[in-house]
Amino acid sequence: MPAQYETVLRQAADKFKRTAEVARRDNIIPYKSENGKWVTSPFDGNSWWTGGFWPGLMWQFHALTGDDAFLEEARRVEALLCDEFRTYKYLNHDVGFMYLLSCGADYKLTGNEQAREDTLHAASLLMGRFNPVGFIRAWNHPDHRGYAIIDCMMNLALLFWASRETGDPRFEKVARIHADTTLREFLRPDGSVSHIIELDPDTGARVAEHPGQGYALGSSWSRGQAWGLYGFTLAWMNSEAPAYLGAARRIADYFIQNIRPDGLTDCDFRQPPEPKRIDNIAGAVAACGLIELARQTGTSAYEQAAYKLVDGLLTCCDFTDNCCGLLTRCTASYHDDGAGRETNITYGDYFLVEALMKLTGGDPMLWM
Ligand code: GLY
Repeated sequence: MPAQYETVLRQAADKFKRTAEVARRDNIIPYKSENGKWVTSPFDGNSWWTGGFWPGLMWQFHALTGDDAFLEEARRVEALLCDEFRTYKYLNHDVGFMYLLSCGADYKLTGNEQAREDTLHAASLLMGRFNPVGFIRAWNHPDHRGYAIIDCMMNLALLFWASRETGDPRFEKVARIHADTTLREFLRPDGSVSHIIELDPDTGARVAEHPGQGYALGSSWSRGQAWGLYGFTLAWMNSEAPAYLGAARRIADYFIQNIRPDGLTDCDFRQPPEPKRIDNIAGAVAACGLIELARQTGTSAYEQAAYKLVDGLLTCCDFTDNCCGLLTRCTASYHDDGAGRETNITYGDYFLVEALMKLTGGDPMLWM
């Protein structure tokens, strides 16, 4: 394990302790850094799906340093996220991302009982999105009643957690039904995955594939590949169902073939050569999944690929005050939707730090 990783983590902790102070003063949830300032989420206020990554980052740094300034900042944002239970209308299947890394992390690391209740509340909201024809509904627009998306594989971690925590098998059963549908409908023969599949909300039959945050219909949005890779790895770790491990390996093999020589990740593996569009978040998520998959399977190729990705990401870190965060060249969507292109976005920082924590032996594993 390169000693450099430990140094980067310590420098990052110092930087985020400083810039967390700015977020606290403004009482915001940082989404990205722009012109040396934190900017909030582009849509849906504090219900935007990324709200848990900032407290997750704070919990990672708390695990690293033991400094209570990180705990206090995480809890400040947890309170804002819990207010969103009352607003409710913007919350969607991404309550997994939002509450497992915030309240779930708090409960895991401190035993905070209220945080446990809040995480269970989020799990129940996710259960409420289950359509018994076989999938969890992703989004709220009336036209999206049948939409399922690959990203949801990560949200399933909240359901597996809730079954373990309560002894009630309903949560895990729903997670497995959704994972089985994802396996059947999203995984392509070459190991790539679709982003959005529409199912008939009355029968569960496949209606169509839709283009999402990647280049085009039928292309290969790299962050979607990474969600599938890490999501199926977590589903295997939570269930020991061999089909999920097989899926994780197929997506991993496909992802590895597409890592660029410089260790960075194209926003879409089927994008045209120009314009070059990098999404380092995809590389950071995939690195986390590959590290866990290497540990599960003893496959050194997965570990080597994770090192290649992490070393690529470290060439894109900005420790100056021009940027409040760390990882640059993060892209929310291939076709710019206003959520950020080739810039610093906090969930890129979260997954880079999680990967570094795994490689240095300190990861508290907030997904389980
Ligand atoms: N919708 C989740 C993502 O942008 O990756």
